[in-house]
Amino acid sequence: MTQSLTITRPDDWHLHLRDGDMLRAVLPETARHFGRAIIMPNLVPPVVTGEQAGAYRDRILSALPGDMTFEPLMTLYLTEDTDPEDVAAAHASGLVKAVKLYPAGATTNSASGVRDFDKVRPVLEKMAEIGLPLCTHGEVTDPDIDIFDREAVFIDRVLDPIRQATPGLRVVMEHITTRNAADYVRSQDKDLGATITTHHLIINRNHILVGGIKPHYYCLPVAKREEHRIALRAAATSGDHRFFLGTDSAPHTDANKLQACGCAGCFTATNTMALLAHVFEEDGALDQLEGFASRNGPAFYRLPENPGQITLVKQDAPVAFPEQIDTPDGPVTVFDPGFPVHWTVA
Ligand code: NCD
Ligand code: ZN
Repeated sequence: MTQSLTITRPDDWHLHLRDGDMLRAVLPETARHFGRAIIMPNLVPPVVTGEQAGAYRDRILSALPGDMTFEPLMTLYLTEDTDPEDVAAAHASGLVKAVKLYPAGATTNSASGVRDFDKVRPVLEKMAEIGLPLCTHGEVTDPDIDIFDREAVFIDRVLDPIRQATPGLRVVMEHITTRNAADYVRSQDKDLGATITTHHLIINRNHILVGGIKPHYYCLPVAKREEHRIALRAAATSGDHRFFLGTDSAPHTDANKLQACGCAGCFTATNTMALLAHVFEEDGALDQLEGFASRNGPAFYRLPENPGQITLVKQDAPVAFPEQIDTPDGPVTVFDPGFPVHWTVA
């Protein structure tokens, strides 16, 4: 029996596109299904100024195949030297939709991130004034904090103090991985949203470590215990408009993933919408998928919903997704959920 679901064209509120050959290889995987995406600025060197964001936007648009439509929503990488006036000008021109906070050293290409939060106070105050959202990589980097606790500790030690000190600052807690984060979002009455990735709805830490290490399941923030995955599923499928999709699709070549010190990141752009249909159906919440993937994000970012639609179709036979995307730098492995998927985007 064929089942189908038509929804407003979705957006991805957290995406890594990289640059150059990698950008050209992975961009179609997102643009095929998604209308827009919040583009992460953690290039080497990072996208710090409005001018750099404009140039990166141009490179993305010139890498877009002629038969595809896609709008990159640009972000600035917050450093201790970021100029509040440059941020305000980049926002006023319509170019920049968010500023990204990486605690220094928290993840891939985050060395230029923030160490001393007092140094970025003028930027945060300007952002609160103009309504520009702050996207946070919510993990502390203190060596004495266990990697599985770094998100929960970030909320108490960094995020809540920043929000208390900066009334009106609009914050997106990105790629949340814990019940603690979902509870914190629900406990606040305004100016706070959270993105959830596809893979964190599917894997827990056992999937990474039991029966042999699975480098393709290693990303940051690292997947947590099963109880946290269940809490994320509940948040995503609840219909609560504060939770929306940010895939954090983060391509690394297999050569960079499969080594003694492998890179963090799951590449999910190719099959995300099919996997989400599977997940939402499994939880009896297919009717909430459109809110999560297509409506709650634009509402938070105060942007219109996409004009178009996509149709998801469920077929009897399992769908064969490509195992890898070929790039001139080498293959990038597509996230394998570890179970048969019957949904596909028509
Ligand atoms: C991201 C990357 O590869 O750029 N990696 C990841 O594991 N998610 C960085 C990030 O968002 O943390
Ligand atoms: Zn990311």
